[in-house]
Amino acid sequence: MTSQNELTVVVLAAGGGTRMKSRTPKVLHAVAGRSMIGHVLAAVRALSPARVVTVVGHQRELVGPHVTSLLPEAVLAVQEEQLGTGHAVAAALSAAPVDTGTVLVAYGDTPLLQSSTLSSLVADHEASGRAVTILTGVVTTPRGYGRIVRGVAGDVTAIVEEKDASEEQRGITEVNSGIYAFSASFLAAAVGRIGNDNASGEFYLTDAVALAVGDGLTVGALVVEDVAEIEGANDRAQLAALGRALNTRIVDGWMREGVTVVDPLTTWIDAEVELAPDVTVLPGVQLQGATRVEADAVIGPDSTLKDTEVGEGASVVRTHANLAVIGAGAEVGPFTYLRPGTVLGARGKIGGFVETKNATIGEGAKVPHLSYVGDAEIGEGTNIGAGTIFANYDGVEKHHTVVGRHARTGSNNTFVAPVTIGDGASTGGGTVVREDVPPGALAVSAGPLRVIEGWASAKRPGTKQADAAEAASDR
Ligand code: UD1
Ligand code: CA
Repeated sequence: MTSQNELTVVVLAAGGGTRMKSRTPKVLHAVAGRSMIGHVLAAVRALSPARVVTVVGHQRELVGPHVTSLLPEAVLAVQEEQLGTGHAVAAALSAAPVDTGTVLVAYGDTPLLQSSTLSSLVADHEASGRAVTILTGVVTTPRGYGRIVRGVAGDVTAIVEEKDASEEQRGITEVNSGIYAFSASFLAAAVGRIGNDNASGEFYLTDAVALAVGDGLTVGALVVEDVAEIEGANDRAQLAALGRALNTRIVDGWMREGVTVVDPLTTWIDAEVELAPDVTVLPGVQLQGATRVEADAVIGPDSTLKDTEVGEGASVVRTHANLAVIGAGAEVGPFTYLRPGTVLGARGKIGGFVETKNATIGEGAKVPHLSYVGDAEIGEGTNIGAGTIFANYDGVEKHHTVVGRHARTGSNNTFVAPVTIGDGASTGGGTVVREDVPPGALAVSAGPLRVIEGWASAKRPGTKQADAAEAASDR
């Protein structure tokens, strides 16, 4: 049980993020395959709140639709000018007025924030009956944060922003995360009482704490265990550091679920990836998007799989795959490029230096070496010879090739689509297939071999080639 009262979540995402030096809004920058605000919204959604209000302002034409795509039920509150966090929450409450239950306030740029932390905060707040419960963190360098000021009895009396803090207050290492649980009735009345008489001239949400204390209401704090959860990324270096920390959490999580990760430092796993127990991940692997890997599969080394499904016991070596499906027990790689629409059947093989696209390769079928397979269907048990090109593009349109079951095609073939090679058919080495080959037939297009004796001596006299040829015929 997360919240006994009606829960409203306000996510602040109107600020500029100038230090990112980016055309992309700060909260849309991604770690672990998801925008920063996407991580926050995922944590929020797990609380099943009654409503979520996201405050948008700066670049709201990009942030707003992104939020809606992730959480269609979220209310977007527009904050035209960003006059401070207190002003932002006032904008949220005027877009979605609430005066009962609990209001949880969070920021859109803290990708490591966990839903369990939010639910602990809400539960602690609701059990205590306080006006405000602040999520705080104890840090070694508190620079930039609001400091938590406590009275002699240890009770929180105020949050003082760094710019407004005394020398002594600046030494406080317990800081404000910017995440709070408020009693909705208190917050709704308090936002209108917050002024901007401070060093920044902003309306500080943090002033609500002193207002509550002044009203004789109780204020409390919950100290977060892992301060990384409350860290925001303000520049690219912090983004990379948070990305690394999140990846460590994800990789550790999968190892605890029974996945072998040989080198966690060079293994990158996105938040939405799913792995079965007894998957092995070798060094230098990126598993991205909605990739799913079944039990006993071995991935790597040095492979990137995006939105790809890997079946039980498959092996994928030095491969770049995007929107591909690899069947159980299949083998892929090394140096293999699987493009969207590749579907490899169980126990099939796509070998070294092979590129595939929009290709269904049947159970036990093999494309072992140096080939391009585009817009094709290959039946079960068929073997495609080394160096085969499925010529799918006539310069204007793409065409389809079908190769039947248990066919055997020769090396260095070109299949000029549209063309069909029947079940059990064969083709000779170097064949260019321009017409359909019936089931069971052998198609050969290379002409008879012509041998002109003594050509090197006659046409290349005095060269090393001719010398070698003459030495051989003397023997
Ligand atoms: C704020 C807190 C500070 C806390 C810190 C934690 C205040 C006054 N200070 O400071 O105590 O330690 O967060 O990171 O609240 N935003 C809006 N509209 C605005 C202003 C901000 O939506 O008008 C959003 C920003 O996009 C951002 C968040 O609110 O996500 C925090 O704003 P920011 O200006 O970065 O606050 P800090 O100065 O860091
Ligand atoms: Ca900040």
